[in-house]
Amino acid sequence: VHAETLEDRCQVAAYACQRRTPLAHKNQLLTEALETVAEEALFRGSEGRGLAFSRAASVLKSFPWTVRSVKDLSSLPGIGEHSRKIIQEVLEDGASAEVENVRQSERYQTMKNFKKIFGVGVKTAGRWYQEGLRTISDLQAHHAKLNSAQQVGLLHYRDLNSPVKRSEAEAIVQVVQKAVDQFLPGASVILTGGFRRGKQTGHDVDLLITHPTEGQEMGLLSKVVSWLDSQGFMLYHSTHRNSFQPLEDEELSVSATTMDRFDRCFSIFCLSSMTEEPGCELKGSGGAHHRKAVRVDLVVTPYSQFSFALLGWTGSKNFERDLRRFSKYEKKMVLNSHTLYHTEKKIFLSAASEEEIFQHLGLDFISPEQRNA
Ligand code: GTP
Ligand code: MN
Ligand code: MN
Repeated sequence: VHAETLEDRCQVAAYACQRRTPLAHKNQLLTEALETVAEEALFRGSEGRGLAFSRAASVLKSFPWTVRSVKDLSSLPGIGEHSRKIIQEVLEDGASAEVENVRQSERYQTMKNFKKIFGVGVKTAGRWYQEGLRTISDLQAHHAKLNSAQQVGLLHYRDLNSPVKRSEAEAIVQVVQKAVDQFLPGASVILTGGFRRGKQTGHDVDLLITHPTEGQEMGLLSKVVSWLDSQGFMLYHSTHRNSFQPLEDEELSVSATTMDRFDRCFSIFCLSSMTEEPGCELKGSGGAHHRKAVRVDLVVTPYSQFSFALLGWTGSKNFERDLRRFSKYEKKMVLNSHTLYHTEKKIFLSAASEEEIFQHLGLDFISPEQRNA
């Protein structure tokens, strides 16, 4: 019998999907520093550098102890020279000069604020910064061009940047379930994203909708969205067609542009409640209502793809990215939110649960609460 050494036990796996990463971890100061420089790199368009810092932070999140010295890092994969230097500065001085410079820089702060507008990405934020705009009121004063999503985003800037509570997420599940029940009894609404990983707050609500009879879900999303809209629950919505077309040419299939093809919706809900307390009532009758704009992602999935959608929309982003990388480079398989494809055997592998997907990939099952990579 092979005796497990201390070193074996301290070994941290290279891919996030091979690691258990709890929500609360032991290296907050270090991961916050690394995530700041990761974000700054993305703001500058350096995807590779951003990813490297982000991976280093992710590895530290899975480490079961607090890192006290750079020597502790020798057993950790994926921590490059630059990340190591930042970690060392934080460990020795309590802060990294480089990170503090980023945090105080006008560019970083401005980009961060612009990016907080729904519908604004790095490109738009960067362009506004180049044009000399610095604050949200500058956008209005200088008549910056905003698309319809960004206009709604600006209008609800405060709401959309205040954390969504679990009670609010659950209230939205109830509303969507009520809408779904009218058009397709037996269909379920499942809360995914960060809340499924155990987070108590989120930046949005991620919902999956499915029905146990394959095909019954066709056309459901447009009906649900129209109804929610007519009832005043929607401040904004933008539906998109399923991006997955395994057997058809992506371009050719566009010809069948019926609403049936739309299966995901990025929306902003108007959540109204009598109080701030949990158990708040939606669209209750009369009284002084408190209203709040909340980002909601709605995804409808055929039952046969449900496990893949559940795994794909539960996150975290680092966990998902490494699941796909692991599948590709270690297993010669292609994983997405719809299927798992074996590129050498040229077959799709079906799965009735997340556990089966992990089995196909030869991975230990990682529960949603441990996917906070
Ligand atoms: P908070 O919302 O901030 O609490 O975190 P979150 O982890 O829920 O993030 P988010 O809502 O952005 O994403 C949830 C999961 O959905 C993540 O794993 C994403 O990778 C995944 N996701 C986001 N957008 C898409 C998309 O367009 N397609 C697919 N397949 N997955 C997506
Ligand atoms: Mn989310
Ligand atoms: Mn989301």
